[in-house]
Amino acid sequence: MANPLYAKRSDGLNGVITVPGDKSISHRALILGALSTGSTNIRGLLEAEDIIKTVKALTALGVAPKKIGDTWHITGVGTSGLMQPEPAVLDFGNSGTGVRLMLGVLAGHNITVKCVGDKSLSRRPIGRVISPLKRMGLNVHDLRDTLPLRVTGTSDLIPIEYNLPVPSAQVKSAVLLAGIQARGTTSVIEKEATRDHTELMLQHFGVKVYKNYEGGKIRISVDGHTEMSGRDVLVPGDPSAAAFLAAAAVITPGSDILLLNILYNSSRIGFYLCLQEMGADVVAQNHRVIGGEVVVDLRVRGSKLQGIVVPQERAPSMIDEYPILAVVAAFAAGKTVMEGLHELKFKESDRLSATAAGLIANGIDAIIEDTTLTVIGAPSVLGGGIVMTNLDHRIAMAFLVLGQGTIEPVTIDDGDIIATSFPGFCSMVQNIGGNVEPIRNLN
Ligand code: S3P
Repeated sequence: MANPLYAKRSDGLNGVITVPGDKSISHRALILGALSTGSTNIRGLLEAEDIIKTVKALTALGVAPKKIGDTWHITGVGTSGLMQPEPAVLDFGNSGTGVRLMLGVLAGHNITVKCVGDKSLSRRPIGRVISPLKRMGLNVHDLRDTLPLRVTGTSDLIPIEYNLPVPSAQVKSAVLLAGIQARGTTSVIEKEATRDHTELMLQHFGVKVYKNYEGGKIRISVDGHTEMSGRDVLVPGDPSAAAFLAAAAVITPGSDILLLNILYNSSRIGFYLCLQEMGADVVAQNHRVIGGEVVVDLRVRGSKLQGIVVPQERAPSMIDEYPILAVVAAFAAGKTVMEGLHELKFKESDRLSATAAGLIANGIDAIIEDTTLTVIGAPSVLGGGIVMTNLDHRIAMAFLVLGQGTIEPVTIDDGDIIATSFPGFCSMVQNIGGNVEPIRNLN
C-alpha cells in the first residue's frame, strides 16, 4: 500500500549526523566476500532493501552472510564456488546495481537462474550488461532486453576487451567480475571515468587491477582465474544519501549540520563541487583513507545560492544527484543548466522527466531540451504540488527536501520506496529540525 508523505518548511536543520553506509560499496563488499576464500567481516553495511536483496541472492547461491553484533560475516566459497539455487529464481527487487553486478558473477558459474525484479527494475535496460557477458559466454534464454531473464553461466568464460558504450560503473563492474573468472585477461575501456569502487575493492581483496590511460581513455584490466582472500571492510557513509541532507541544509537559512564519515571518492563528489560553485557553504574536513577510499566529514550551512552550468563531463561523478541538485537549483538566483543527462532516463524511473515534472508541479520553471535540464531559481518557491515517485527512492527524497524550503507543503505519493536505499531518512530529517510526516497528519 502506498504511503503518501508531505514535507513542510523548516526553520533550519542543526545536528551531527551519521548517514547509512555507501550502497555501491556495500553491494561490492558482499559480492567479493562471497567470492573469496576465508572470512570477510563487514562493518557499516547499508541495511536497506536493495542490499538485503543481494544478501538473499548470495544466500540462495550457497553463501549466507550473517550479522552478529554490528558486523556482517561471510565465509566465502572462492571465485567459482556458488551453487545452483533452488528454486532457481533470484529476486533483485528495485536494485539495478544488484542484478547487473550479480549477472557478471553468474556468468562464470555453470548454473541456471531466472533474475526478476520489481516493476521499476523490470522496465530498465539490461541489454547493456548482457551484451558483453554474452560475448564472454553467458547463455541468455530470453530475447528481451529487460527482466525477467533466465541465464546460464559457464565455468569457461572467454576474456574480452570491451569499450563501454555508455558511462556505466555497473556495466564496467559486471564485465570485471566476469573477468576475474575468465580464462585470460579482460579489459574494459572507458571514455569517461565512472565510479571505481569495484577496482578499489578488488585490490582490497588482493586482486591485481591494471589501470592505464590511453589517449584520453582509461583501460582497466584484470586477470582471469583470480583467487581472492577474505578481508575486513569498513563501509563509509554514502555521499549520495548525504546529498539529500546537505541539500536540505543549504536551502534552509540558519542550518548548520555536520555529516560524519562520508565517502569522498573523486568519482562520486560532483554534487558537492556543484554546491560549492553555487556559493554554498560546504566544507570537507578531516580527510582520511579507509580501505583504499577517501573519507571526510562535511560541514554544511544554510547559504545564498547562485545558478551554475553543470557540464556533461561531470555527469558520471554525480549521476544519482541530479534530482536533488535540481531541487537546490530552484532556490538559487538565476538559471542552473544541467547538460548531458541522457543516462538519467534509465534509472529507477525516467529521472529526467520525473524531476522536471515534480518541479513544475510545485510552481518552479523547469525546461528539458534534448538531454539538458534548465531550472529557473527564485528566492521564494511556492510548492504545494503532489509528486509522483514512480518507485524511485531518489525522486521521493529529493521532493521531501524541496518541501523544507517551500511556502506550501510538498506531497509525495509514496514514501515506502525510500527504504530501498535510506531507511530512517524521514526520522533523520525530523530529528535535525526538518518536517516530514505521513499525509494523515496534514491539517
Ligand atoms: C552504481 C552505478 C550507477 C548509479 C547506481 C549505482 C554502482 O549506475 O546510478 O546508483 O554501484 O555501480 P550506472 O553505472 O548504471 O550509471
